[in-house]
Amino acid sequence: MSFGKIGQAISAREIFDLVSDDLEKVEGVIGLESISSVDTATTIGRYLQSGGGKRLRPMLVLLSAKLCGRSGDGAVRMAAVVEMIHTATLVHDDVIDIAKTRRGRPSSNTIWGNHTCVLAGDWLYMQAFQLALRERNFHLLDLLIGLTQMMVEGELLQLERIGKIDISEADYMQLIDRKTASLFSACARLGAIMGGADETAEARLGEFAWNLGIAFQLEDDVLDFTAHEAVLGKPVGNDLREGKVTLPLIYALENASSEERGLIETVLRDSNYDAVPLPRILKLIERHGGFERGRERAQAFTDKARSIISEFPDSPYQRALVSITDLMTNRDH
Ligand code: IPE
Ligand code: IPE
Ligand code: MG
Ligand code: MG
Repeated sequence: MSFGKIGQAISAREIFDLVSDDLEKVEGVIGLESISSVDTATTIGRYLQSGGGKRLRPMLVLLSAKLCGRSGDGAVRMAAVVEMIHTATLVHDDVIDIAKTRRGRPSSNTIWGNHTCVLAGDWLYMQAFQLALRERNFHLLDLLIGLTQMMVEGELLQLERIGKIDISEADYMQLIDRKTASLFSACARLGAIMGGADETAEARLGEFAWNLGIAFQLEDDVLDFTAHEAVLGKPVGNDLREGKVTLPLIYALENASSEERGLIETVLRDSNYDAVPLPRILKLIERHGGFERGRERAQAFTDKARSIISEFPDSPYQRALVSITDLMTNRDH
């Protein structure tokens, strides 16, 4: 992938190369820290770690730390912490969503069952906190605990709204702020702290990554309808089947006829596409410009993120963070 659109952009490969040594160390830390005295927790941790994943959040921690001038073992540990928190939320999320696949493989709940996965997720959360605790830094812990509560609130809000058709754009934004953008923002702030940044730079980097996270989730919700299953690693049209009314659909519903609204209600009620096939829904969203408007919103947050990161002094890391903004909206999974 390349980013020809902006003059100073660097490629995804180059971004990766800047942090690849550290990312390798992150994998080592996650591997070591995922060993429990009870084998099941270790096995589930290993299964998830080996299942792929873009490692976007650790990358954000590492690049932010390097941007601020320092990236040592502390930044590597914090990068491992955020990936472990991310993994724990995914284990719990797949239980909540009764998901069948994650990262192109059977999700952990389908292999070990709900009971075990709830506990394994708890164990992973606590292990992540224990790792963070070793820094003996209350500011870090404050951030991580607030963040985890935000993410749980996001999942709670999502649960309350499952199957409901009348979700407003404001409701949706409130949800993705908690469930996705809060973690992105925390990643950049943690990196900034480990990099020795002052409070102003930390807050600004947090704001950059918050916008990045919103753009990421907006794009994710478009991709849920438009991507190919093999690339996405989970079934297409999954969100609506799970009862989640996301932004492309919210926009389409603004102008939908009562008959079209009825089609969406049917899928929400049935939790499948048997009566109303997915292509019918896709056409409906497309016709009302739901995908286009969803992508435009994602682009607006990407632009905002780029304008914030452009304020930072030029360096390979700053340029990498500028280029990462384009990765949010120009991706296939
Ligand atoms: C999945 O995040 C959860 C969302 C916020 C949509 P990613 O798409 O970053 O998941 P992995 O880590 O690459 O699998
Ligand atoms: C993923 O949320 C978990 C969090 C972001 C906390 P979703 O349920 O929306 O995403 P997928 O589709 O399972 O990855
Ligand atoms: Mg889910
Ligand atoms: Mg979910």
